[in-house]
Amino acid sequence: MPPGSKKVFVKTYGCQMNVYDSERMGDALRPLGYAPADGPEGADLVILNTCHIRERAADKMYSVLGRLREMKAERAGTDRPMRIAVAGCVAQAEGAEIARREAAVDLVVGPQSYHRLPELLARSRAGDSAVIDTDFPVTSKFDSLPARTAKGQGPAAFLTVQEGCDKFCTFCVVPYTRGSEASRPVARIIEELEQLSARGVREVTLLGQNVNAYHGEGPDGAAWSLARLIARLSDVPGIARIRYMTSHPRDMRDDLIEQHADNQKLMPFLHLPFQSGSDRVLAAMNRKHTAAEYLALIERVRKARPEIALSTDIIVGFPGETEAEFEATMELVREVGYAQAYSFKYSPRPGTPAASRPDQISDEIMTARLARLQALLTAQQTQFNRSCIGQTLPVLFEKPGKKPGQAIGRSPYLQAVHVDAAAHLIGQIAPVAVSSATMSSLGGVIVSR
Ligand code: 5AD
Ligand code: SF4
Repeated sequence: MPPGSKKVFVKTYGCQMNVYDSERMGDALRPLGYAPADGPEGADLVILNTCHIRERAADKMYSVLGRLREMKAERAGTDRPMRIAVAGCVAQAEGAEIARREAAVDLVVGPQSYHRLPELLARSRAGDSAVIDTDFPVTSKFDSLPARTAKGQGPAAFLTVQEGCDKFCTFCVVPYTRGSEASRPVARIIEELEQLSARGVREVTLLGQNVNAYHGEGPDGAAWSLARLIARLSDVPGIARIRYMTSHPRDMRDDLIEQHADNQKLMPFLHLPFQSGSDRVLAAMNRKHTAAEYLALIERVRKARPEIALSTDIIVGFPGETEAEFEATMELVREVGYAQAYSFKYSPRPGTPAASRPDQISDEIMTARLARLQALLTAQQTQFNRSCIGQTLPVLFEKPGKKPGQAIGRSPYLQAVHVDAAAHLIGQIAPVAVSSATMSSLGGVIVSR
């Protein structure tokens, strides 16, 4: 079958790791002749790459599946039948249950099995019962996926270096859906980054659920730390910027903090979740750190890179959280001062220890706490963005803006920057004099060199 004669549409939910995985599923399917489609209408195969971190994502998936079922029924019997696959963490967590609940689903594939997609598709035939693969295979998908061939989405790319988690925070499904911690070998990561660089990528974000626990095998046979990996990747020609996420406070080691001081290619941005400011709640979450330890860590990071922008994840309404414990979270946010943050109402994930606790917090209380927290975070984010007015920041331009000629890029601090008359700079880094700021972005003009 000639390439491009079939079309696949991958809809991505959730985290950046899913964005990366969706691209890699495209790579796995390309040898079978699948080209990307813009939407489900034109696709022979629709893949929902799902997220299981919070409840709404799974609900949303079932409602999307309902609409796809109608589309599939309309096309049944025509020369363009549609097949539907569910991938990602909901696939891993619910497995065959998805096919039982939604008969239109042909294939359920967990995050560790994407390299088996061609074989699984061959096994799934219209009319047969769904094919389910949620194993944790012995051969890593990374070793079996074809080289990255996608044309790419621009000069900033994701690269998964580590997957899975052994921390078992009591609210989180990741250790169950993504399995235990595993790091890719250094040589494979270098290879992939060189391929990305060759297609014009200038900025890479190294991904992992616990990326700073990275301990992949180096060319010397030793286990390399994330710091050592970042130092080596900084030598890849064409790569100007490196980022990494998501980190755990317990794995924030000295050599990584030193990289923030010494390596100018490592961007001054750190996403370091703390989840709660109360030591009692942190212990109940099995976070393995206290609020004071987190604050001490932030101090060390700021000493290494004073201008670093900080980001975090916070949960409100963990079972048993009192008003005073929530206040401790607010206080920690005030003490640190974040450039951006993600905050969530606690949502019980079946199978996790916290889900069966009897002291669940009412939605009313969670909603009120989240509103207070988000008001504080929004104010901090706006303040951080405003503090950039008057500065000249190097911006990597990624895509066209809404207005003709406008381009949108990213500052070193990960802020979106809108600049008029900059469309010719897409793919490049150029200095921008920042003249305006909102809660979510900056504006400015190119400084001629
Ligand atoms: N409820 C609410 N938020 C959650 N997160 C993970 N699991 C849950 C849950 N059960 C949040 C955490 C994590 C982020 C990716 O999602 O803050 O850091
Ligand atoms: Fe989930 Fe905790 Fe692991 Fe992060 S560290 S992925 S929150 S279990």
